[in-house]
Order: sequence, then C-alpha cells, then structure tokens
Amino acid sequence: MEQRCVVAIDGPSGSGKSTVSRRLAVALDAAYLDTGAMYRALTWAVLRDGVDLSDPEAVTKVAVEAELTLTPDPREPHIAVDGRWVDEPIRSPEVTGAVSAVASVPTVRRLLVAQQREIIAGADRIVVEGRDIGTVVAPEAELKVFLTADQEERARRRSAETATDHVTTAADLARRDELDSTRAADPLQQAEDAVELDTTGMTIDEVVSTLQELALSRASGTGQ
Ligand code: DC
Repeated sequence: MEQRCVVAIDGPSGSGKSTVSRRLAVALDAAYLDTGAMYRALTWAVLRDGVDLSDPEAVTKVAVEAELTLTPDPREPHIAVDGRWVDEPIRSPEVTGAVSAVASVPTVRRLLVAQQREIIAGADRIVVEGRDIGTVVAPEAELKVFLTADQEERARRRSAETATDHVTTAADLARRDELDSTRAADPLQQAEDAVELDTTGMTIDEVVSTLQELALSRASGTGQ
C-alpha cells in the first residue's frame, strides 16, 4: 500500500485489540502505536514515585516530567520511561489496577494525546489502538474500527493472556470497562463512522483479514 493510511482501533479490554492491531500493522507494512501502553507507562512512573493516585496535580506533574520513548515496530513494540524499558512492569496487576485513575485525569490525557498525534503525523501508515482514537486522537483516520466481543469471551482471552483466574479477570474487566466508559474526559466511545466488528467466535486471522481488506479499500479510495 502506497497511500498514507491511519487505522484507528478502539474497543474495551479483551476485545482482541492488541493482537489484531499488531497483526494488522504487519500485514499493512505499517507502524503500530499502543496508546494503552502510554497510559500504563505513566501509571508505572506514578507508582514508582509514590505519588497519590487521587491527587490529579501530582499525577500531572509526573506526566509532564516523565519522558516516554516508543518503538513503533509491530513485531517488537517497546516502551521506556526515562530511559528504562518497562514492557513487563506495565502489565503488572499493580499498574493494571491503577491505570484507569491515571487515564481519567484530563491534563494527563491532553499531554498524551498531543504526543500520540505527533507520532501519527510522523508516520506514513500506522495502526493506532486505544479507547478514544477514532473520537479524539485521530478523528480523520481513513479507517476507524470499534472491536467488541461478549464479556465472557473477553474475560477468557484476558485470563489466558495474563495467567490470572477467570473470576478475578472478569471482575477486573467489568470494573475497568465501567471506569473507562463513564469518565468525563474522552471516555471509551464508538465514533459515529466507525465500523463495529464483534469478534466473538471469530479467529484472529479472520478479524485481521477483514480489517486488512477494509483498510486497503479505504486507502485506495474504493471503500465508502
Ligand atoms: O488497552 P490497555 O488495557 O492496555 O489500556 C490500559 C488503560 O488505559 C485502560 O484501562 C484504559 C486506558 N486507555 C485510555 O484511557 N485511552 C486510551 N487511548 C488507551 C488506554
């Protein structure tokens, strides 16, 4: 694909966003941006500094000072905070438990959205995954996708990924969905012109090839 193409992939936790976004980026020979990893990395820095999660000003100060570095390679995406690679620690239960609080601070979102837009502007083709990509970060994206899957299937996928038991995972997903969908600043929301894809019962290959076809037709201007 020669044309510039931004693909925005939003959806709740466990909808298959990360696996699908990375595979789609490889298929399209595009860069990959995991915006959830940016919120997680800042949360890691907030916990590192022992900052009170319920103090938005202190949390914002960490966001202003922390330097995030991302490698946009979908085969090997990495993220560093202040020069330290944090790919593993940002997936810890501590970070997962605290990230919704950090992501609900409007000033933190403004800072990260600005960085995300800069990364997108610097890429020819890019697949961006998150919660507010089609609505806030890149509303001009050629293709916006809203991935869903039923609660049971999402909990099953997450619990296989994280080796955490099903009941705990299901409760954590429900809690985060509620927080992410009801926060005042840029909640998880489907863009009006997004393609909604329910991945329940679909294989990853099926989802990726469906989206690849859509992206190719949008980029060449043959899609609607
Ligand atoms: O996709 P994930 O589970 O790694 O995202 C971690 C958290 O970050 C999730 O609880 C919601 C938040 N998030 C957000 O608010 N906006 C984004 N664009 C991406 C993630």
